[in-house]
Amino acid sequence: MDAARARTGMVDALRDGGRVCSPAVEEAFRAVPRHLFLPGLGVAEAYADEAVAVQFADGVATSSASQPSMMAIMLEQLDVRPGQRVLEIGAGTGYNAALLARIVGPTGAVTSVDIDEDLVDRAAVHLASAGVDGVELVVADGALGHPPGAPYDRIVLTVGSDDVRPEWLAQLAPGGRLLLPLAVRGSQLSTALDLGPDGILRSHSVRSCAFIRLRGAAASPEATTRLDGIGVALQVPDDGPRPDAAAVAGALADPRGHRDCTAALGPVDVWDGFGLWLALTEPGACRLLAVEPETALPDDLLPLGASSGTVGLVAAPGAIPGVAAVVLAGDDHSPLRVRASGPSGDALADRLLDALAHWTAAGRPGAPDWRFVAVPRGTDVDLPEPAAVVEKRHCRLLADLPDRAAG
Ligand SMILES: C[S@@+](CC[C@H](N)C(=O)[O-])C[C@H]1O[C@@H](n2cnc3c(N)ncnc32)[C@H](O)[C@@H]1O
Repeated sequence: MDAARARTGMVDALRDGGRVCSPAVEEAFRAVPRHLFLPGLGVAEAYADEAVAVQFADGVATSSASQPSMMAIMLEQLDVRPGQRVLEIGAGTGYNAALLARIVGPTGAVTSVDIDEDLVDRAAVHLASAGVDGVELVVADGALGHPPGAPYDRIVLTVGSDDVRPEWLAQLAPGGRLLLPLAVRGSQLSTALDLGPDGILRSHSVRSCAFIRLRGAAASPEATTRLDGIGVALQVPDDGPRPDAAAVAGALADPRGHRDCTAALGPVDVWDGFGLWLALTEPGACRLLAVEPETALPDDLLPLGASSGTVGLVAAPGAIPGVAAVVLAGDDHSPLRVRASGPSGDALADRLLDALAHWTAAGRPGAPDWRFVAVPRGTDVDLPEPAAVVEKRHCRLLADLPDRAAG
């Protein structure tokens, strides 16, 4: 297949699908040949709307060329202008850095850092073969940003972070924008945060995403508790009480029946729709993830990308054990229903169904409906009470649904 034709097809699809909206982002995608950043891959694969893993450790991808539609969404969120100074954390193949360089033009500057020297070496080869100059590649732990190039008008992470680090804020120009795939109680959200004169970051837009997570100083493996013997891991908010794994496993092994959902709920609504709402507004919110092919929740976990899992409520540690979880109702995967397990499962199922009714009454908000304010630790401000507060090590994240009633 002809590379130019394949590239045109990819960009047309990104534009027609509403992923690419602005002329600047469209022009960059049309100009930069993705296949030169993925040598060894056929042209058709290089221009498919798929992420391509390019490095593995212990069978797990540690670097990838991101999915073009996600890159387009993030470039639109970033709103890069000609002449700006941009720091990218997560150079990978160098493809996104090339797109950024195209947008900032000759009067701007792009610095892209990756923690792996080998990846940076390969990205340099890709950039050279595509004839892109204007990208400074650096081998560094992006947790620390890259102070020599600061201040930056835009800082973008193309790798998942658990927190908003003070180093990035210190290197952001006044009024600058930080865009990062941020872990928020089990969801990962591409969050564009604008730095205000008061030192507070306010989100401009939020989208669901699924990026590889940071390694190095800011590494924070997803905090899950493996439930022995049933092939499932439990995830609860980092800033909440630690679960009693044995009690939860015992409850899950003790099914108490199903309840019909009071509202239509499909699998795609669950993770960053109802699940995010639950995680932000309900104590005891949890996510259950299949970590082995055979689980004790056989057919009823929801398909989630390559794996499966679901959301629900779990009894507090020390309380009467129980779990209520959203599960598949049958072979057609829709509608969903609630499964109660353990002695307090029925009461939790009542609460879960109530929460579902509230989420529905609020208009079924999803990731793009939430707004976040990141208040760096040590910053003293008086802000209105938000719908939810997520406590991070380096910031307090205030979550709200500006146009809807949360909680
Ligand atoms: C999804 S890939 C980035 C894709 C890249 N932007 C592209 O266009 O190909 C994530 C990258 O983040 C890098 N990474 C992980 N931890 C890092 C860290 N602490 N500092 C810098 N880069 C890091 C990985 O090595 C990986 O290459």
